Amino acid sequence: MVEVCLGGVIKIIVEIMVARKKIANFPISDVALSNFNRLKDNGLQSICFFNNKGGVGKTTLMANLAAQLSFSTGAKILLVDADPQCNLSQYLLSDDEFSEMYGSDGLVDSIYSIIHPLSIGKGYSDTLPVKRVERFGCDIIVGDPRLALKEDLLAQDWRDAKSGGTRGLRTTFVFLDLIKKAKDKYDFVFFDMGPSLGAINRAILMAVDNFLVPMSIDIFSVWAVRNIGEAVRVWHKELANGIKLAEDPSELGFSVGRKAIKFIGYVTQQHKEKSESGSRRVVEAYASIKNRLPNEVSKNLGWLYSTTKLNPHLGDVKHLASLAPKSQTLHTPMINVSLRGSYTITRKQAREIYSDIAERLLENIVAIA
Ligand SMILES: Nc1ncnc2c1ncn2[C@@H]1O[C@H](COP(=O)(O)OP(=O)(O)O)[C@@H](O)[C@H]1O
Ligand SMILES: [Mg+2]
Repeated sequence: MVEVCLGGVIKIIVEIMVARKKIANFPISDVALSNFNRLKDNGLQSICFFNNKGGVGKTTLMANLAAQLSFSTGAKILLVDADPQCNLSQYLLSDDEFSEMYGSDGLVDSIYSIIHPLSIGKGYSDTLPVKRVERFGCDIIVGDPRLALKEDLLAQDWRDAKSGGTRGLRTTFVFLDLIKKAKDKYDFVFFDMGPSLGAINRAILMAVDNFLVPMSIDIFSVWAVRNIGEAVRVWHKELANGIKLAEDPSELGFSVGRKAIKFIGYVTQQHKEKSESGSRRVVEAYASIKNRLPNEVSKNLGWLYSTTKLNPHLGDVKHLASLAPKSQTLHTPMINVSLRGSYTITRKQAREIYSDIAERLLENIVAIA
């Protein structure tokens, strides 16, 4: 008995020492730490990383920013892979972990197990199927290709939700239920999403406190900003109307009278840039689109944040060359790839980039909280 207790105490001490060492390797400013502590006192923050354009670096940004936040502040973070392509799960899980989970016996504990009970009339699932990924300092709810099959359910029930139907509202709020279940254990829940304005992403956008837009520097991102702003505006109105029409919202088991989603900023990413020393014309071409972004963001998303309080540009992730694919094969965040040679330089750059974005993110959440 004494041995068991002693073992437990030693384990806790070792965990604290490991956490302290990580924090020492990833310094963060006092201001950022105090912002984090303020947020911690306010309770869990849910954030989705969304852009209806694919390949803009959503998954890479989310995973690396989460690791940076966790290592530098000790934040407890849950990552939810809500993209049926499961790229986040592939990135985070080692090859063995991945084949163990997605092997021939079928995936049991995933995002699917959160939605499936609703489709067979069983209500919300009892628990959250989380898995620890130490290398990223986070927990994850792994993705599932079968999530795509639930797009129809969410689309049909959305129609019901809009007219105040309890079933429709319950299904639509499946991710709000997930967030509520995560409340006591985590400081942040991050959602990675597929590139669409479909029903799954709509349900996530209607559940989270904040959204962040990763974007590449191209005209497609300018279009995406317009689409996102308009879609969120319409959906929000429709859902508010549905809640108003609902006969007895208390049947849902939790309060749906909640604050509207807020926009906390965008991150520009230049990972399509071929080389740092590219011709002047290429650099200028990027700059001309980049210069348009602040205006487009404030015009289309300004109603979702206070334009006087917030600088929505959280930072710029430059092309990190082969550090990106290397971090994928090692299933390790870019800020922690421990190879030598050119990787030492890009890893240092990655640490500076993600640390700056983490600081700005904390600043913006505090500003709008
Ligand atoms: N900063 C970066 N430097 C180099 N390559 C990057 C960077 N960010 C993302 N990539 C690469 O770009 C591709 C798309 O990124 P990903 O995060 O999967 O985008 P999305 O989730 O928006 O589809 C991936 O192959 C990824 O390795
Ligand atoms: Mg992705």
